[in-house]
Amino acid sequence: MQMQLDSQLELPGVPLGVELHDEWTWGEEEESLVDRFNHVTVMRDEVTRALAVRDGGVYVDVTLGGGGHSEAILAAAEGARVIAFDRDLAALAAARTRLASFGDRVTFVHASFSGLRAQLDALGISRVSGLCADLGVSSPQLDEAERGMSFRREGPIDMRMDTSRGDTALDLIANLGDDELADIIFRYGDERRSRRIARSIKRAYGAAELHTTLDLRRAIVRATGPVRHGGVDPATRTFQALRIAVNDELGELTALLAALPATVEPEGVAAMISFHSLEDREVKRAFQHRDLWAPLTKKPQMASEDEQTANARSRSAKLRAAVFSPAGEGDEP
Ligand SMILES: C[S@@+](CC[C@H](N)C(=O)[O-])C[C@H]1O[C@@H](n2cnc3c(N)ncnc32)[C@H](O)[C@@H]1O
Repeated sequence: MQMQLDSQLELPGVPLGVELHDEWTWGEEEESLVDRFNHVTVMRDEVTRALAVRDGGVYVDVTLGGGGHSEAILAAAEGARVIAFDRDLAALAAARTRLASFGDRVTFVHASFSGLRAQLDALGISRVSGLCADLGVSSPQLDEAERGMSFRREGPIDMRMDTSRGDTALDLIANLGDDELADIIFRYGDERRSRRIARSIKRAYGAAELHTTLDLRRAIVRATGPVRHGGVDPATRTFQALRIAVNDELGELTALLAALPATVEPEGVAAMISFHSLEDREVKRAFQHRDLWAPLTKKPQMASEDEQTANARSRSAKLRAAVFSPAGEGDEP
């Protein structure tokens, strides 16, 4: 099966496969923190509807980002509370400002969502009324050159969502052998030229030629040949693969899905938005346990046509939502 590429790599209005231009570099320091955290929330209404937010309910948003879903939940019912997780300190800072008017109805947690259960235990929360996840990276994480996630902007080869800890993509490249690196590029990027690319990256690293994202792209293009007119940039799949590996995105998702049955209360809803097929497959599999989950829809929900027109990122979003029904009483959709 062909893996769907993460369209989060696509920048609005910038087709993949075009060469880098200076004007795409982003740096308007005088903007406020919230303005700078310019992320358009995907399927905001669909998520709020699926969660059936109620007064007095406690909800977890495990991917706070710019705070769009949290804000929608808090606005949907006056007495609702949100526990908001993000591993990115910049996202937490921006969302704190955006959600300040909700006061203590929102609790911010700087943690990876693989630690969901431990963090909720520390807050004295056993079960929650609902949970949402909007997986992957935010637009600012992709857009800010210093995060190193985009081959369109010159930055360090970092790619960490949580810049306070963990190995960077450059550490990964340094520490892995050619075959291990190739396996990552193949598995998480579905890149059939993975061996050639891995060898070229390691060669560039060995020759001390790998300092920035543009150096990394150059090493990839050396192995693949140049961009074909109108085609996908040859660095797309490798950048996606390295980012997934650096942030252990699939390990995080597996841990989150495993924690859901011990976290959501019966009749509570888990709503998960994924952006590529590796993630969607995991979510689908988890919700197939009909002794635990009753999916709200048989097929994943997509963003409306209007939203897809307005926000290119939303085109590959798939929302799967399911009611926690531990006795298996949920109706088949
Ligand atoms: C797509 S954005 C969320 C956007 C948000 N729903 C909004 O509307 O503004 C994903 C966010 O989740 C965070 N994230 C991704 N994986 C995470 C993980 N394993 N643990 C905690 N946060 C994570 C990222 O740092 C990023 O800020």
